Amino acid sequence: IVEVPMILERQNFINIRKSETELRQLLGDRQFKNFEEFISYYHLCAEGANEVGTKLENLDSDFQFKYDHNPIHHMEERMKEIPSVFEKVRRKGYEMSAKGIKDNIYDIAGIRVITNYLDDVYSVEKTLLQQSDIELIKRKDYIKNPKESGYRSLHIVVSVPVFETNGVQNTPVEVQIRTVGMDMWASLEHKLRYKTKADPTLVDKYGDQLKGYAEELSKIEINMQSIFHDLS
Ligand code: GTP
Ligand code: MG
Repeated sequence: IVEVPMILERQNFINIRKSETELRQLLGDRQFKNFEEFISYYHLCAEGANEVGTKLENLDSDFQFKYDHNPIHHMEERMKEIPSVFEKVRRKGYEMSAKGIKDNIYDIAGIRVITNYLDDVYSVEKTLLQQSDIELIKRKDYIKNPKESGYRSLHIVVSVPVFETNGVQNTPVEVQIRTVGMDMWASLEHKLRYKTKADPTLVDKYGDQLKGYAEELSKIEINMQSIFHDLS
């Protein structure tokens, strides 16, 4: 057996406690209830991402072992920056508190799974969700129903038990699963969105073109999938 290590870019551990003063400054005069609780919840979410990341690594390795195929090309694990968490709470009008965050924001911890083929998106989802300790909380299939921009991706939020020193906590982790083609497209379109803030004419210039490419890429990936089937 030739073991090909699949790459999971894990984030460096951030010691949030150390920067607590800065975080408080960031909140300014905004009242935030249960700040301590939020900090420890943020830690918990990072641990949740590690749990799910390990599950996905194991799944990929088992696929390789049993079927001689790696569904996952690579993965990226990320924590939402704390200022972005606060910004989202403000934007969506949730309560500025640990509870407001726990009840409403499920994408503090995120893993992006980039698969080799289209079918791999769904086999990764299926094999993750069938695990007895994983619970599905939210699901949006932007592959079956692409966004207006042309964006395609499968978004799920799962809950995973995290065992801490003082017991177990079910923790939400957002998993975005998409093919290499969808990922390439999303990176470029993200750049367009970002640049558009400075120059609004850019969307008119490139928006439709990119949407067309999303459809072309989708066709190419369906056809390549069927060649792959024939060759397997
Ligand atoms: P927010 O998380 O508050 O944005 O809303 P939501 O939970 O409804 O999120 P959604 O399911 O739309 O997914 C949000 C994430 O998906 C974003 O952070 C992006 O990473 C990605 N995304 C969604 N739509 C697009 C898009 O049109 N283009 C690109 N490049 N990425 C997108
Ligand atoms: Mg989201």
